[in-house]
Amino acid sequence: MELEQIKTEALQAEKAALDALAAAKSAAEIERLKPEILGKKGALRQLMRLLGQIDATLRPTAGAIINEAAARVESACETRLQELRERELEARLAAERIDVTLPSPSRRVGLLHPLTLTLREIERIFVSMGYSVATGPEVETEYYNFDALNIPPDHPARDMHDTFFLAPGTILRTHTSPVQIRYMKSHHPPIAIIAPGRVYRVDDIDATHSPVFHQVEGLLVDRDVSFAHLKGTLTEFLHAMFGKDLATRFRPSYFPFTEPSAEVDVQCFACRGKNAECRICKGTGWIEVLGSGMVHPNVLSHVGLDPKEFSGFAFGLGVERFAMLRYGITNIRCFYENDIRFLRQFAQRW
Ligand code: DAH
Repeated sequence: MELEQIKTEALQAEKAALDALAAAKSAAEIERLKPEILGKKGALRQLMRLLGQIDATLRPTAGAIINEAAARVESACETRLQELRERELEARLAAERIDVTLPSPSRRVGLLHPLTLTLREIERIFVSMGYSVATGPEVETEYYNFDALNIPPDHPARDMHDTFFLAPGTILRTHTSPVQIRYMKSHHPPIAIIAPGRVYRVDDIDATHSPVFHQVEGLLVDRDVSFAHLKGTLTEFLHAMFGKDLATRFRPSYFPFTEPSAEVDVQCFACRGKNAECRICKGTGWIEVLGSGMVHPNVLSHVGLDPKEFSGFAFGLGVERFAMLRYGITNIRCFYENDIRFLRQFAQRW
C-alpha cells in the first residue's frame, strides 16, 4: 500500500463525510451521522487499520494524514451541529413568538348592580348622619310584620299587602317595618337605624311592580323627637340624593304604625311641573318617594317603651323606585333580567 493511496482515500473519506454533513437537515441527523462517520466503522478509522500494510517509515506520515482528515471532519461536524441547532432554535422561537404589543381582548370586570349602587348611596347618606344599618329576617311572623305594627288581623291594610304565607303565622315579610319592632325590642333608645332588605308581595310583574323588591326602613327613637326632626332629616336626605334644587313636600297620609303620617314627594326631575303631559310625574309635577310618620304610641307600647317618655319617627322607601328615578329607568324588569347590556351602563356613573 502506497502513501499516495492512503492520502487519496483519506481525502475521499473526508469529502464524503463533509458532503454528508452539509446535506444533513437537522441537528438530530448530525447526531446520528457522527458515529457513522467518526466511529469505529467509519471510513477514516477503517483506513487506520490499513496502516499496517504500509512501509514502517511512512506510517507516521500516513497516520498523521488520516488523523488530520479526521480532525477536520470532527470540527466540521461540530460547526454544522451548532449551525443547525441555532437554526432550529430560531425557527422554534419564530413559531412560538408572542406579540406582546398586540392589544389584548378586552376582559370585563364585574360591576355593582344599579340597585346595590343606589342602596349604598342611601346608606352612605344616613350613616353620615349617624345612623347604623340593621337587618332582620325575610321569613317573618305575622306578629312582627302586622300585629306589633298596629295592624290587627281584620285591618284593611293587611289586604293592601298581599302576603305570601309559608305556614299559619309565618310569612315572607311584606315590608321592612318589622325590623323596627325587632330592633326596639333588643335596643334601648336613643335609636337611629336604617334597615335595608328584600320584601315580598303577591303581585303580577309589570313595568313598576315585582313580587320581590327592596325597601329601606328608617327609625329614630329618643326623648323629645318631633315631626320637625322627621321633616329636617328627610329633606336633608332627599337633597343629598336628588340635588338641592329639587323641592320636596310633605303630604298628610295614613299608615297604621305612624301618627301623624306623611307621604313625601320630590319635584319631578324631568319636567319640574312644567309639562302637563310628563310621563314621569303624570303631569302632577311631583313624584312620591317616601312613606313616613311619627311612631304610633301603640307601637312604642308594644315594645315596652312609654309613649309619654319616648317618641320617634319612621320612614320607608322603595330602592327600585329610587334607582328608577335616579337613572331614568322606566321598567323595573331591567333590574332582574341580568342583561349585561343594561348592567354595563352603570360602571362609572356613581
Ligand atoms: N311599610 C310601609 C310600606 O311598605 C312603608 C312605610 C311607611 C314605612 C311609613 C314606615 C313609615 O316606617 O313610617 O308601604
